[in-house]
Amino acid sequence: KSAPLIAPSMLKCDFGNLHREVELLESANVPLLHLDVMDGHFVPNLSYGPMVIKRLRELTELPFDAHLMISDPERYLDDYIAAGCDSITIHIEAVPEPVALLQRIRDAGVAAGLALNPGTPVEKIAPALESCDLVLVMSVEPGFGGQKFMPSALDKLRELSSMISTETLLSVDGGIGPDTIGSTAQAGAKLFVAGSSIFDASDYREAATQLFDAASQ
Ligand code: DX5
Ligand code: ZN
Repeated sequence: KSAPLIAPSMLKCDFGNLHREVELLESANVPLLHLDVMDGHFVPNLSYGPMVIKRLRELTELPFDAHLMISDPERYLDDYIAAGCDSITIHIEAVPEPVALLQRIRDAGVAAGLALNPGTPVEKIAPALESCDLVLVMSVEPGFGGQKFMPSALDKLRELSSMISTETLLSVDGGIGPDTIGSTAQAGAKLFVAGSSIFDASDYREAATQLFDAASQ
C-alpha cells in the first residue's frame, strides 16, 4: 500500500506572508502543494492565477498541483503550464469532452487531472479516465474552504478505484480532516487535499502528521 499524500490547499494560507507559509509547509514535510484557482464564474469565488503561481514557483521546489475551478480552462492552459505547475486538474463540468485537453496537458509534460463535483456522476468521466494521471473527487461544492465533508464522495471513490489503473492517482478534496480522512483512504483515495485542517492548526507539521497517520490506518 502506497503512503498517503497530504496536499495543503493554498486557499486558507496567509497570503500576506506566502514565503513564510511555504517555509512552514516545507518543514511540515508535505509532498506537494494544492493550488486552488477560482474565476468567480465557474465557482462563486475568486482566488489567484498564474502570476501568483509563477512567483510562488520561485519560493519552493515542492510540486504544484493546480486545481482549475474555472470556465474555459483551454484558454488559460498555457499560462498555468508556463507558471510551473506539475499537475493541472480541470473540471468535467467546465469541459464536457476533456480528452483532447487532457492530452494537451500531458504533451506539455504536465500530469493531467480531471475533477468532478458532488452532483456529477462517475459515468460522466468514465470515457476520459485513460487520459488522466489524476482523478479528483470533490467532497464539497467547490468554491470555498471550511465546508463539511459530504459522505457521498465515498461511493464515488470506491467506484473509481475499481475503474482506474494503478498509475492513476485518486484524490479527494473538501472537508478532509482527522475525522474524515480515514474513510476516504478506506474508499481508495491516495492524495488528500486539506485546507482548514492544516491552516487552522497552530502547528502545520503536527496537523499534517495527524492526517498522514489517520490516512495510514
Ligand atoms: C474547494 C477547494 C478545496 C478547499 C479545501 O473549492 O477546491 O481545495 O480549499 O478546503 P477545506 O479542506 O477547508 O475543505
Ligand atoms: Zn482544490
